[in-house]
Amino acid sequence: MKSLVILISGHGSNMQALLKAKLPFRVAAVISNNPGATGLEIAKAHGIETAIVDHRAYLDRKTFDVALAEKVDSYQPCLIVLAGFMRILGNDFVDCYSGKLMNIHPSLLPAFPGLCTHARALQDGVKIHGCTVHFVTSQIDCGPIIIQAAVSVLSNDTKESLAARVLQQEHRIYPEAVRWFMEGRLRLIGNHVKLVAAVVDESTLCSPKLHK
Ligand code: GRF
Repeated sequence: MKSLVILISGHGSNMQALLKAKLPFRVAAVISNNPGATGLEIAKAHGIETAIVDHRAYLDRKTFDVALAEKVDSYQPCLIVLAGFMRILGNDFVDCYSGKLMNIHPSLLPAFPGLCTHARALQDGVKIHGCTVHFVTSQIDCGPIIIQAAVSVLSNDTKESLAARVLQQEHRIYPEAVRWFMEGRLRLIGNHVKLVAAVVDESTLCSPKLHK
C-alpha cells in the first residue's frame, strides 16, 4: 500500500483531519521537529508511529535538513505532507522531494504568504480569505497551487474567529488534495497543477481466471 509521512510542529489538527479521513493509504509515520508537539500524542492514539528530529539538536539548518531527510527516507514514503510544520526547509531538502512535498497555508495564495495571515487579512480589509494546499518549492509559499477554499470575512471577525473558520476549511481540503495525489490524479504542468480523472486500473475490472 502507498504510504506517506506527515511532518508537524504543534497541534496537528490538519494531521488529525488526515487520519480521520481514513484515506486508503498508509500513514507510515508522523515526524515532529518539536518534542512537545501535542499532535504526537494524537498520532500515537491513532496507532501511528511517531518520530522526533529536534531542530535544536543541530548546528544549522543544513544538518537538521539532512537528519530530517534520513528519517523521512527510512519510511520510503511517496508523499511528504507538511501539516503545521513550522520550520523553513532548505533548498536541498525541497529539491530532493520536488513534486512529493505538500503544504497547507492559511491564506488564499498568492495573497498573504508568510506568517500572521489572518491578522494581515483583517488589517487589509479583504472580504474573502481562506487557505491553500500547494506543492512546496524553494520559494516560500509560492509553489504550484493544488486546491483552495474561501471563507467570507465578517465585519465582526477577530483574527481568532477568522482563523477558526479557515481551519475548518483546511481540514476539508487537505485530505482531498492528499487523496488526489495518492490516486495519481495531479499533473504538474509548469507552475500549474491539473486534476485529471481517476485512473482506472483495468486489471481490477476482470478476473484473470475468466480470461485465460
Ligand atoms: C494551520 O492554520 C496551518 O495552515 C498552519 O498552522 C496552523 C495550525 O495547524 N501552517 P495544525 O493545527 O497544527 O494542523
